[in-house]
Amino acid sequence: MNTAVDRINALARRVPVWSVWLILGIPAVWTFYLGLTGGLGAEPIKALERKLGEVALQLVILGLCLSPLRRHLGVNLIRFRRAVGLLAFTYVSLHLLVWLVLDVQIWAQIWADILKRPYVTVGFTAFLMMIPLALTSNDLSLRRLGPRWRVLHRLTYVVAVLGAVHFIWLSKGFQIEPLVYLAVILALLALRLRYARRRRSA
Ligand code: HEM
Repeated sequence: MNTAVDRINALARRVPVWSVWLILGIPAVWTFYLGLTGGLGAEPIKALERKLGEVALQLVILGLCLSPLRRHLGVNLIRFRRAVGLLAFTYVSLHLLVWLVLDVQIWAQIWADILKRPYVTVGFTAFLMMIPLALTSNDLSLRRLGPRWRVLHRLTYVVAVLGAVHFIWLSKGFQIEPLVYLAVILALLALRLRYARRRRSA
C-alpha cells in the first residue's frame, strides 16, 4: 500500500537538489532586495544581519532533523542534507560579512568585539567550526575521511548549540524564540545520544 511516507519519498526523489538551493536561497535575495529598497525599517543593516543569522540557525537545525526523520519516521530527505548544510554556511558567511562590512566596519573594533563581547565570541567560534564542515561536504572528503567524516560532522550539534547560545546571549530581556531553538536542538541531541546508546548495547 502506498503510504503518505512512500509518497513523500517518491516525490523527494524527483525533486532536483538545485531546487533546494533556489528555494532556500530566496530569503537571502528577498532580504537584500528589501534592504536596498527601504523595506527593512529604520535599521536596515541590523534587520538584514538578524534575518541572515536567524535563517542560518534554522538551516543548521533543519540539517540536524534529516537523519532522525529518516530513522524514526522513514521520511528520506537525506540527499538534500549537503545542500542544507552548505546553505547554512552561506547564510552564516553573509551574516558575518554584513556585520564586518556594513555594521562594524572598523578592523580594530571587529577584533575587540570578537574578544570582548561574549555573544560575538560564541558566534565566531560557531562560524570557525563550520569551516571544516563546509570544506568536507563533498564526495572526495567523504571517501578520504571514511569513518572519521561522521565523527567530524558531529560538530554540527556543537555549532547548533553555540548558535542558539549566541542568540540567547544577544537577546535583550526574556525572549521565548531563542529558547525554543535551544530546546529543539537539545531534543535532537538527546534523540541522537539515545540512538547511539541503543546501537552500542544491541
Ligand atoms: C561569524 C560570527 C558571528 C558574528 C560576528 C555574529 C554577529 C551577530 C550580530 C551582531 C547579531 C545582531 C545583534 C543585534 O541584534 O544587535 C547577530 C544576530 C544573530 N545571529 Fe549571529 N553572529 C555570528 C555567527 C552566528 C552563527 C554561527 C549563527 C547561527 C548558526 C548566528 C545566528 C544569529 C541569530 C539567530 C541572530 C539573531 C537573529 C534575530 O534577532 O532574529 N550567528 N549575530
